[in-house]
Amino acid sequence: MANLLNICPSDLINRRSVSLDRFGVINPPKSLKTERLRLRKAKLSDAEAIFCQYAQDAEVTKYVSWSAHKDIEETREYVRMCLLAWDVGKAFHWVIERNEDKQAIGMIIARVAGEKWELGYVLARVYWGRGYMTEALKALIAWALKQKDIYRIWAVCDVDNIASARVMEKAGMLREGTLRRWSVHPNISPEPRDSYCYSIVK
Ligand SMILES: CC(C)(COP(=O)(O)OP(=O)(O)OC[C@H]1O[C@@H](n2cnc3c(N)ncnc32)[C@H](O)[C@@H]1OP(=O)(O)O)[C@@H](O)C(=O)NCCC(=O)NCCS
Repeated sequence: MANLLNICPSDLINRRSVSLDRFGVINPPKSLKTERLRLRKAKLSDAEAIFCQYAQDAEVTKYVSWSAHKDIEETREYVRMCLLAWDVGKAFHWVIERNEDKQAIGMIIARVAGEKWELGYVLARVYWGRGYMTEALKALIAWALKQKDIYRIWAVCDVDNIASARVMEKAGMLREGTLRRWSVHPNISPEPRDSYCYSIVK
């Protein structure tokens, strides 16, 4: 499983330092509140909602870098990987939950590379177009830019993923350019596709 995340043995050795603020290591919030949402650390019991809400949905997964899940066990394995990644400080996966009904509706992810954080996100189709992802993204960006050691927050999206590009623009990110042949989106094609690169910095 560690291979999937590109986690090396030294990451695992450094595991203890991840939670120790006094060494200047980022210690992300397990929960972040917005007006309509709560971003909270994923847990294994979320697998069912993640699978049913979006992970198996061909339309939701069209532009992502992973194949749509075929069964719930695949989603459980994915959530286990998320938890391991959080523990080693490599990536943080927050489930997006609605305040009004505690429904898990999506996920937002930060992959850590020193002072640079790369974001990713996904939302169940029935909740599209209500501004939820823009709200979640803004909250995470606001938190991240307040951290002393985070300078750059960035993300990419397929050049055809208009909704995702728009979300990043609404969240204050700037399009830096096109990364040609950057990312494989296996639910469209096995060949790498062009992506827009967006960022916000301080
Ligand atoms: C991308 C995604 C997260 C957006 O979430 P969302 O909560 O629906 O986004 P918002 O409602 O905050 O904003 C969507 C914006 O895109 C616009 N939009 C959506 N589809 C569009 C289209 N086909 N053409 C033009 N604009 C479009 C909406 O009008 C809205 O902009 P507006 O507020 O200016 O009108 C969601 O569509 C999703 O989960 N997609 C599948 C997974 C994915 O692609 N993740 C990103 C991988 S990079």
